[in-house]
Amino acid sequence: MRISDKVAIITGAASGIGRTTAILFAKEGGKVVVADQNEAGGDETVDLIRTDGGQAIFTRVNVTSATDIQGMVKTTIDTYGKLNILVNNAGIAIRLPVVDLPEEDWDRSIDVNLKGIYLGSKYAIPEMIKNDGGAIVNIASIYGLVGGRTRAAYAASKGGVVNLTRSIALDYALYKIRVNCICPGFVNTPLLQNILKTQEEYQALADLHPIGRLGEMLEIAHGVLYLASDESSFVTGIALPIDGGYTAG
Ligand SMILES: NC(=O)c1ccc[n+]([C@@H]2O[C@H](COP(=O)([O-])OP(=O)(O)OC[C@H]3O[C@@H](n4cnc5c(N)ncnc54)[C@H](O)[C@@H]3O)[C@@H](O)[C@H]2O)c1
Repeated sequence: MRISDKVAIITGAASGIGRTTAILFAKEGGKVVVADQNEAGGDETVDLIRTDGGQAIFTRVNVTSATDIQGMVKTTIDTYGKLNILVNNAGIAIRLPVVDLPEEDWDRSIDVNLKGIYLGSKYAIPEMIKNDGGAIVNIASIYGLVGGRTRAAYAASKGGVVNLTRSIALDYALYKIRVNCICPGFVNTPLLQNILKTQEEYQALADLHPIGRLGEMLEIAHGVLYLASDESSFVTGIALPIDGGYTAG
């Protein structure tokens, strides 16, 4: 068990990468707080974990709301008595070139993908300090490292996540709080499977990755687990690509 008895909040855990990470964390002995604005999906994640013998609760949160984030941290402490790990995973992907991008979509991208991580860190870190340290893992993207067509708002927010990660890591390193982010390439999620209608469409996306396929959710979750666990105890402030080589060239 790699995170035995550690308490972890995972935002956006009602679906996709967040859900897969929550299930993996529970298998590795973690007590998981599934935090999402989607209550039905969140409850389903909790059921999947409990059916497998793991421990989890659901808490409803909009990551753009300071009040909700404070409530999420309070629920965690009230239920499990401490907080060791925060995975800031909730995110949205709006794809439009800048001229066509409505201002509200720009604001929403920055609010969910970037401000959500600021708020999560702001209210989780004091609890981690009380507990002699902790680990924060932020989910950025390859578009935090390189630009992408139609990704103006998304890439701006994810580039912000990479440098926010580094800055928080520097500020809290001596408090034994490690802060890192992961930059996934395209990942085979249910959402993507619905968008990609043909084998040709899948292959075109797969070909962007030198490894020649999309990533699997568990391949991202394993990276999150490494950065959240004591195995990465000398690692802080990094942006780890898990991208099949996308950003290598
Ligand atoms: N899927 C990919 O190919 C890919 C690639 C790189 C990075 N990412 C990043 O990984 C993360 C997870 O993506 P995914 O593909 O699993 O997406 P997903 O849509 O399956 O899951 C995202 C979850 O976040 C939740 N969420 C969205 N806005 C929220 C808010 N304001 N408050 C609380 N919860 C909110 C949703 O309800 C959902 O459960 C995102 O940050 C995304 O940008 C995904």
